[in-house]
Parts: sequence; structure tokens; C-alpha cells
Amino acid sequence: MITSALPYANGRLHIGHIRSTYLPADIHTRYLKNKGEKAFHVCGTDEHGTPILASAIRSGKKPQEIVDYYHKIIKQSLESTLIHFDIFSRTTKKHHYKLAQEFYIAAKKEGYIDYREVPILYCEKDRIALPDRLVVGTCPYCGAENQYGDHCEVCGRTYNAFQLKNPRCAICNSTPIIKHSRHAFFKLSELSDKLRDWVKNGVKLTKGVREHVLHWIREGLQDWDITRDIVWGVSVPDLPNQVFYVWWDAPIGYVSFTKELFDNLGLDWRHIWVDENGYIVHYIGKDIIYHHVLFWPAMLMVNGFSLPNEIRVRGFATLEGQKMSKSRGHVIDLEEFVEIWNPEYLRFYWGITTSESLDDGDFSLREFQAKINKVLIGEIGNFVNRVIQLIIRGNISKGSIEKEYVMNLIDKIDKYEKDINNNKFDEALNDVIEVAGIGNKLLSDREPWKNLNSEKAKNTLVTAHTMVVAISILGDPYLPVSCKKLREIIGIGNETNELLLNLKRLIQDEEFISHSLGTILNRKTKIKPLFAKVKESDINRMRHKLQGG
Ligand code: 2FM
Ligand code: ZN
Repeated sequence: MITSALPYANGRLHIGHIRSTYLPADIHTRYLKNKGEKAFHVCGTDEHGTPILASAIRSGKKPQEIVDYYHKIIKQSLESTLIHFDIFSRTTKKHHYKLAQEFYIAAKKEGYIDYREVPILYCEKDRIALPDRLVVGTCPYCGAENQYGDHCEVCGRTYNAFQLKNPRCAICNSTPIIKHSRHAFFKLSELSDKLRDWVKNGVKLTKGVREHVLHWIREGLQDWDITRDIVWGVSVPDLPNQVFYVWWDAPIGYVSFTKELFDNLGLDWRHIWVDENGYIVHYIGKDIIYHHVLFWPAMLMVNGFSLPNEIRVRGFATLEGQKMSKSRGHVIDLEEFVEIWNPEYLRFYWGITTSESLDDGDFSLREFQAKINKVLIGEIGNFVNRVIQLIIRGNISKGSIEKEYVMNLIDKIDKYEKDINNNKFDEALNDVIEVAGIGNKLLSDREPWKNLNSEKAKNTLVTAHTMVVAISILGDPYLPVSCKKLREIIGIGNETNELLLNLKRLIQDEEFISHSLGTILNRKTKIKPLFAKVKESDINRMRHKLQGG
């Protein structure tokens, strides 16, 4: 069960959004499917919360109109980047509301909910309560200015709006007054010991993330105010006029969307989410560690649900060395990217430059052009193309596979699988590039084009061809369209989704290899190169746009 953090349905996604979450989750799921595993990638839009309410108020629209609009756009832009979901649902569905309420009722029954009178901020001008992102001010912990009322982007702490210093209404900028309201609290503090044990021994995290979270637990977990005096959200069964805080209902989407998917497939969602028969991996960005490593497992614990097995966290993206910013126009939306370039180029770029660490990564146009033209095309594309063209030119239909190279290739396949399983997707892609590198060297050392009729040339090309076969399968999670095209050219049918399970056998099977050569030779239409270069003019045009031109 692979999940990607649910994007808020209140804006377009840019090229940075896929770096930490959707792309790694997609690569992982595609890999597992290629291994014949029952893997599911589950996501959808997060459609509640104050930013959506604020945009609705500002634009004079209903929140529902805003989320309908962005749900479609977000879904399309992820699809256009070849991110595949088994389900991409929405948190405004009825069955999701029901499950969010059931989670609350169960937590209450277990004694983890109590009610407290709290001070709230209220804007007299807009005549609304101002929780979370409806208010801005100074972080009560680190003093960072211009932070929202729920979470500091500088120090990563969460708190409630009333704790903000110097608060202002996010809509009209006026200073709010104080009112009082009775809210439901989730007793997170009582779960500190259990959470500590789980963080230490029960979940796979990188060392940095684990230490971060243990530090928060040592500092003391605060009970969590989970209801709000606004109109947009899942209504709270026993508190009229209140809705759940968006972070209560959002992660429940992982479960409600699974249920929706599994109901359609005739499978039982409880198998994974209650009976601990699955393996749950959450992919998130580094700003929402607290929510996924503390709040969410605590909610699951008190409900008797399965806990995640792994939480994989990655950093953000900058663009040309600077933070992306919509208002300054310093941003490339996904839609904009795919209009100019092959979406696989973005997947390749982030794939090769993104480690499993929390470090941020930069999208540099210069670097992008170099990685595509020199590495993707220069190494992989060129190798594949050379082998295919030489096979055609020499009419090569048979030859012996050279053992030494195949053994090497098998080692590479093992290394690739280990890298993917260890969350090292950059290294796994590098393994694919290295296969092409070995192949390119084999060709330049042997120069088979000098005498394509010789036994040696035939063996060389047949051996190189096993590497092309490997690339078409190992590269698939990163470059799904091109690899599929390549597999069609070389006659690897798509009737099985267990490509990777069969790979080691295929590259040693001379019968299969000559069948594959036959497919290439019998092709009626000309075989074109898989990739086109990133043009200097497109790079310049994009640079000009980013500079405000
Ligand atoms: O930070 C965000 O963008 C949230 N919408 C992520 C929610 S993830 C999950 F918990 F639903
Ligand atoms: Zn702070």
C-alpha cells in the first residue's frame, strides 16, 4: 500500500511538487508491479482546510467550486507527468466523511477525546473565526514572522492560532478579537510512550527523521485541538457548528480511498488497514513529518488500525537556486513543463538528482539540459539506438550471448533491486545508466560495425542486445512510455506485468533473444530514436520567462 501525501485542491502543481512525493511513490509502485507484487498507489485531493475557505471568500465562490476546479487540474497534471494512481479520489466524498467521523467516535469511546474551552481569534470585519491559515503572525517558538496559525514553516512546529504573536486576519489584515469556544481535543500526550516505542522500533525511518521526531517527543507532546468553528469541513458529530481540523480528516483519506478502490476490486480493505496483512509506505515531503509520524499513527493506534511500516520523506525543490514562488512568477507548473518537454525528462532529472535524504534539490535549466542531452540521450538513448541500427544493418538474427557480460548484468539487476528496496531511487537509475555505459564501452572496444558479418560482431551485438532488453525493463519505472515503446520494438510483449521477474531468464535465453532480433528485423516502419534533445532555444525561452520576460 503506497500512498502519496494528498495535495490541497487549491492550486496548480509545479515541477517541484513531484520531487518529494508523487514521483518516488510512482517509481516504487511501478517497480513492485513489475515484480509481480500486488501494489497499489493511493492518493487524492485534500479538499478541506482554511486556505480553500480563504480563496473561496476572496473570490466570492463556494469552496466546493474551488475544489472541483482544482481536483480536475491536479489530476490531469499528475497524469500528464505519467504519475499513475490506482485511485485518485477526494476528501469531499460521503464515505470519507463517514470514516472521519467513525475515527472520532472510536477515539472518544477509548477515552482519547476530551473537551476544553479555548480562546479563538475572530475577525469582526469578515465575521468569521480565524483558525490555522486564516490568520498570520509570528511563530511562538522560533519568532519567524509571517507564519500561519497552525504550523511554522521555519522551525516545523505545530501550534494553535491563538498562540501566534501579533496575529492578523489573512483575508483583510485587520487585528482579530478574542472569543471562546468549546473544542474537542485528542489526547496525544497520553500516547507519548507508545509513540516513542513505535518510532524507535516499529517503523522504518531514516536516522535523521527518527531523531527529529524523538526530539519532539522528549520536548513533550501537546494534546491536539481537532475541531474548528468554520463551515467548511467534515462536521463533528457531537459539536454542532464545528468541523474537524483538516489534518484530522486528511490522512484518513489514505484509508477511505483504499476502501473505495478495494470495494470496486472486490477486495477487503481491512486486510491491509486493520489486520496488518499489508505493507504500508507513506511518501511525504519534509514539512509534514509531525503529522505523519505522530498525529496519524496516534489516530490509528487508538482505533486499532494497522500502523505504517515505512514513512519515506524527501526535501523540497528550488528553481535556479531560488525558492519557487507563484507571486513572483518564479515557477514552472507541471502543465507548462509538459507543453514544452517530454514529461519523462522531468522524471529522469528528479530521478537522477534526488536522494533519499531531506536535502532540497535544485531544478537548474543548465543542469537539466546536460542531464537529458548528455546522460539520458548520450548514454542510454544512443546505446539503444546504436545496437538496434547495427542489428538492422548487419541483419543480425543469431549469435552467442557472452557469459561474462550476462553475469555482470545479473549483478547489476540485483544491485538495482536492492537500491529500490532501500529507497535509493537515484542509485537505481544510475545502475540503469551504468548498464548503458558498459554497453557503449563494449561497442567502442569491439567496433562491430567494421565487419558486421563476422562471428565476433554478431556475438558482440547479441550480447549488447541483452543490455537493451535489461534497460527496457529496469528503466520502466522512470521512463514508462519510452521503455514500453522500446519493448514493442524489441518484441517484449506487455501481456505480463511481471517483467522484472522474468528479466534474468530472458537475458540468458538464446531463443528469446533471436525472437527479439526477429521482431526488430521484421519491422516494416523505420525505427526512430527514443528521445529528442533539449533545445537551447527552449532553455533560453524558459529562462527569459523566469526572469519576468
Ligand atoms: O501538506 C499538504 O499539502 C497536505 N494537504 C497533505 C495531506 S497528506 C495526508 F495526510 F492527507
Ligand atoms: Zn517557528
